[in-house]
Amino acid sequence: MGLDGDGNAKPHERLAAELADDMDRVNALIAERMASKHAPRIPEVTAHLVGAGGKRLRPMLTLGTARMCGYGGDHHVKLAATVEFIHTATLLHDDVVDESRQRRGRPTANLLWDNKSSVLVGDYLFARAFQLMVETDSLRVLDILANAAATIAEGEVLQLSAAQNLATDEAIYLQVVRGKTAALFSAATQVGGVIAGVPEAQEAALYTYGDALGVAFQIVDDLLDYGGDAAATGKNVGDDFRERKLTLPVIKAVAKADAEERAFWARVIEKGDQREGDLERALDLLARHGAMEATRADALRWASEAKAALGALPEHPIRGMLNDLADYVVARIS
Ligand code: IPE
Ligand code: IPE
Ligand code: MG
Ligand code: MG
Repeated sequence: MGLDGDGNAKPHERLAAELADDMDRVNALIAERMASKHAPRIPEVTAHLVGAGGKRLRPMLTLGTARMCGYGGDHHVKLAATVEFIHTATLLHDDVVDESRQRRGRPTANLLWDNKSSVLVGDYLFARAFQLMVETDSLRVLDILANAAATIAEGEVLQLSAAQNLATDEAIYLQVVRGKTAALFSAATQVGGVIAGVPEAQEAALYTYGDALGVAFQIVDDLLDYGGDAAATGKNVGDDFRERKLTLPVIKAVAKADAEERAFWARVIEKGDQREGDLERALDLLARHGAMEATRADALRWASEAKAALGALPEHPIRGMLNDLADYVVARIS
């Protein structure tokens, strides 16, 4: 377990320790359900990704919210595995779409195998996720998770048209992020409460917490894409620039660009004419306009919104951990 400067475990590790028994069951269920009778490529590709770890944030959210809300049954384990299966499927697809070469510190599946394997194994995992959630016998849970799956895909597709277009503004960015990332966070927290039978106001608070946490999480992911350390994130720095994505730091720098800087952004982002030294120039412009700090300030505001939502939820030690998790999501380096 990683310790901070004061010798304390990081918030997500405290939550992981609290939920360790349940998380072991989730991991066992994932291992069981990623099997395939007929296509050995499926567990090979999945094990490559699942075996590399990952923070398991989303299943922790489901396990944690269910426990915080007093759930005493067994379905939370299935739902947590469902959520991680959906996440794993989207990662396989995302790395194809983004042509990424590194994930969780390993070469991506699309690089080691091929795009076809990543797409089809991702589809298989999506289908396995749906089989698992059906086992909970809750139409409400099915409704929430099916909506989340559709919203994630919608966000990823919206991002396709928002990329390479300097007219993409903060409102469009937020729509993309809410879809591709926050939808699964909010579904993960919401279903934890739904299976516990919480009243509507608490379900709404769980949604708001997950949504705001997810937005903060993705904003920081986008910061780390420019300012992070590949050894810590397990992903390549500069991927978003190469992919010509209009992420929040770039949107903020473009908004403040003079004519010469705008021509630079138009060349590298819109035309895709990228040359040696362009990433460094982009980093310089982000710094000159305070875009990284302004982006971090936005992430902090979303984290505060997440924390504020917790006030409506039951008093429980896990509630404090979810509060700290919001701070961690902004402070994280991996
Ligand atoms: C990666 O999510 C995809 C994003 C939404 C940015 P995580 O950073 O939670 O991925 P793992 O599971 O820990 O690898
Ligand atoms: C993550 O999108 C969202 C999904 C996987 C659906 P990104 O493309 O921004 O995330 P990373 O940086 O590859 O993890
Ligand atoms: Mg990506
Ligand atoms: Mg992507």
